[in-house]
Formats: sequence, C-alpha cells, structure tokens
Amino acid sequence: MSKDMALLEALIEQITIINPLQLRFLESSLEGALDAELDDLVAYISYAKTQCLPVDYLAECYDLIVKDTLREQLYFQRHGRYRYSTFDEVAKSVYFDDEYMRKYMHGLAITAYLWPNHRELHRYFARTIPATQRGKYLEIGPGHGMYMMTAMRESKYDQFDGIDLSPTSVAMTRTLLGNGVFGSFQNYRIFEQDFLDGDFVPDSYAAVVMGEVLEHVEEPAIFLDRIRQVATSDAYIFITTPINAPAIDHIYLFDSFHSIESLVSDAELRIVDKLLVPYPGLSVEESTEQSLPINVALVLAK
Ligand SMILES: C[S@@+](CC[C@H](N)C(=O)[O-])C[C@H]1O[C@@H](n2cnc3c(N)ncnc32)[C@H](O)[C@@H]1O
Repeated sequence: MSKDMALLEALIEQITIINPLQLRFLESSLEGALDAELDDLVAYISYAKTQCLPVDYLAECYDLIVKDTLREQLYFQRHGRYRYSTFDEVAKSVYFDDEYMRKYMHGLAITAYLWPNHRELHRYFARTIPATQRGKYLEIGPGHGMYMMTAMRESKYDQFDGIDLSPTSVAMTRTLLGNGVFGSFQNYRIFEQDFLDGDFVPDSYAAVVMGEVLEHVEEPAIFLDRIRQVATSDAYIFITTPINAPAIDHIYLFDSFHSIESLVSDAELRIVDKLLVPYPGLSVEESTEQSLPINVALVLAK
C-alpha cells in the first residue's frame, strides 16, 4: 500500500471506530470508486492535514453527516415533512455557526467520494461540463469548494465566480482553491452574499452551477428564475437537488421528480439531460412511492 493510500485507510479506520455500522457500507462503496476519485479523496485528506485537521477530525465530520441524516430521516418518516421550512429556523445553527458548518462542509466534501450516490453526481458534473467553452462561470453555494475546483480543473472558462451566504463556506472555498493541492488556480472570486441579493448583469454567465442548494431555500422558483436571467442564451446550467432527502437544513421538500420538472418549466428552462440516482436496490418509481431519497442532477438550457 502506498503512503497515500495509508491516509485513506486511516480515515476509514477512524470512521469505523466511531461508527462500526459504516464498515461494510464503506468497504463495498469503495470497490466502486475510480482510482482518480481515490486520488482526489487522498488529496483532500492531505489538504486537511495542511490545515492542521487530522484524520480523526475528518472522521468526526463524516459521522456528523451520517448521524444528522439518520435523525432527520426518522423525523421525516414520522411526520412526512422536513423538520424546518424557513431559512430563519436553520440559518443561525447551520450557515452562521462556524464550527458546525466547517464540520458539515468537510463531511459533505468527503461523501462526494465515499458515497456512491454523491459520486455519481460528481462524475456526471465532470462529464457534462463543457471542456472548451469560454466566458464566465458562476457557482451558487460552492460550500466546501470541491465542485468549483472540479470546474476549474475540467473547463476553460475565463473567470470563475462563486457566491455563498455562509462566511464559513466562503472561507473554505477560498482556502481550498488557494491551497495548491488540487492545482494552481488564479482567475476566481468568491463573494459572501445571498444569491438573491447579488447584483448580476443579465445574460452574463456562460455557466451557472448550483449543487445541493435548491432544497435549502424557501422559494426555489425565484432561484431558477434568477439563474435564467443571469445565464447567456447558450449557457451550461447544472443543478443538483434531492427528492425526499431530509437533512437539518433542507427546508423545501421535492416529493417526486415531477415536482422538480414543473418548477423548471415554470421558470422557462428546459431539461437537456438528467441523472436520477434512486435509493439503492430500488427503481425511481419505487423510491418515490416509498418516500425514499433520490438524487437528481440536471443540465438545463434557456
Ligand atoms: C449543502 S451545501 C452544497 C455544497 C456544494 N455545492 C455541494 O454540492 O456539495 C449548500 C451551500 O449553499 C449555500 N447557500 C444556501 N442558500 C444560499 C443562498 N441563498 N445564496 C447563496 N448560497 C447559499 C450554503 O451556505 C452552503 O454553503
């Protein structure tokens, strides 16, 4: 085993010490990971070390997501709705709580490699982002910064802008992009602001990317409308959002793919391509009937 893969082994070991139930799931999940994905995960662990965040801390971050998700799933099964429905109910305890948000975002960054469903979304993004298109790229809610990093690695946009309302996410994205572990990136700006308060020039972005944000907002229709406004006529528009996927800060419930499709067409956007990742072992229809999570990624056009 290389020294690098020893870092990954150490992370898995630490996670399973905290939560032994994760062992079989992670062992089987990692069998489906590509070498390049394992390399990126190892790079992330090394990057965390440069920030004085040891493997034990990353394991705690991962465990936070696992336990939070489980608790919210139980709530969802019992009540048929997400626990919270307004931004104010979650803002202080999530987006503006630096310690919590850091753990949450590191945990989420790791699941992009450790969880098959999140891996599928990330692969789909890397596969669909235009490799040679020029112009300006906008990412709404970069969070940990790994999607933005992927975009900067895989595409040739001239300028990369990120906007996130959480000061922690802004700091984490800036640090990740500036650290050099994943490449030397220069042409980026990260703004700390609510997307809806942003003063964007209409028809100015050749790419608009928004991963796992739509379920975090009270009025997703307004978000899609704003995205259509800022995107150029031939823009690459990429969105992910889950169906029936409770989390502490998910406040808008999509209960079927149809509910997402309607929102998209009401915003006068078209679905050009889509990826639906149902609950393991079930079809999309079965997952929907049983109110189980489905991950959705969409490539949209104006
Ligand atoms: C769950 S994280 C998603 C991180 C990453 N995009 C991904 O796909 O894994 C959601 C991010 O969106 C940000 N966010 C939520 N509402 C927002 C808004 N109205 N404007 C800008 N950012 C927002 C949060 O602060 C957080 O950083």
